[in-house]
Amino acid sequence: MITKLCPIDDGSLKEAAEILKGGGVVGMPTETVYGLAASAFDQEAVKSIFAAKGRPGDNPLIVHICREADLYPLIRGEITREQRMLMDAFWPGPMTLIFDKSDRVCPAVTAGLDTVAVRMPSHPGARALIRRSGLPLAAPSANLSGKPSPTTAQRTLEDMDGRIPLILDGGACQVGVESTVIDARHGVAHILRPGGVTPDMVKAALVDVELDKSLMRPLEKGEKAASPGMKYKHYAPKGDMTIYRGDRERVAKAICAAYDQWGDGALILCKTGDMALFGGRHCVDMGESTGDVARNLFDALRDADDMGARRIFATAVEETGVGLAVMNRMARAAAFRIVDV
Ligand code: TXA
Ligand code: MG
Repeated sequence: MITKLCPIDDGSLKEAAEILKGGGVVGMPTETVYGLAASAFDQEAVKSIFAAKGRPGDNPLIVHICREADLYPLIRGEITREQRMLMDAFWPGPMTLIFDKSDRVCPAVTAGLDTVAVRMPSHPGARALIRRSGLPLAAPSANLSGKPSPTTAQRTLEDMDGRIPLILDGGACQVGVESTVIDARHGVAHILRPGGVTPDMVKAALVDVELDKSLMRPLEKGEKAASPGMKYKHYAPKGDMTIYRGDRERVAKAICAAYDQWGDGALILCKTGDMALFGGRHCVDMGESTGDVARNLFDALRDADDMGARRIFATAVEETGVGLAVMNRMARAAAFRIVDV
């Protein structure tokens, strides 16, 4: 199969919508990361997503809609007060909510669970595609399973070349890490996966927040993941990665010492302001702010693979704001190797 990469215009949207209506899979930009979309009502189409990604069948997908009316056919029961407040505050945007599912959502989407994850993206390309197809679109991140999520159409093509017919190029993703997954069915916003909508933003929308206990540590033996995706090794670069956390001067000293022992094939990921502390060692500039680090993280991990990095030393970011999502992804990429200095 030839995979086309198309700028978003009337022609490419029409073509992509036809593919979706015919049961096919399309690469779609969103404000968080690129997704692999298919009709959430078409069991065979959804199975093709799992096949294209090599994704385990027990890891459910998020359904993407473009207006509230499209939510009702997907869910069952009343919308809680907290869900309503979160929808009003953060849709369209990088937030996914868990609902009890209706029978129309096919079982492959939810991996047999009786809940469904739904999100209303803000990216105009994603919204136009949903509208044109007239379908709720099940879409996981567009990476091969286990690789960092793609944040550009080019990176999506690297993973999906020959596996899907079309990728819509909507530019680089604004957020860079995946959506915040929240279960607000029981009176508080239980965050299953941190993302672009931060705990402080949820509190500011007057909803109580509770972080899932497994966000920053590996699951214990026999422990059940509240969000099935959290049990898999994720976002992994090929090189072994370690995160250093603490006072910035001490972090730099510890990284330099470890780097020098390793030598060839070592790479440092740090913010612009810390570059000077590493004295000419091989660094990837992650940007000035934690928001920049969020936007650049997945691409940096893929760059590290392309450069053949065998050892990656990353400076931690503060776990506030979007930093919580950044550290959640970095910790997984590093298989939870975090050194406190
Ligand atoms: O930003 C995003 O959410 C991106 C873009 C493409 O929208 N999508 C994304 O999908 O990150 P994916 O499949 O890579 O991650 C979906 C996450 C997984 O951790 C999955 O386990 C969780 O959402 N999830 C899906 N349905 C769920 C459910 N019913 N209950 C709990 N967690 C669920
Ligand atoms: Mg993913």
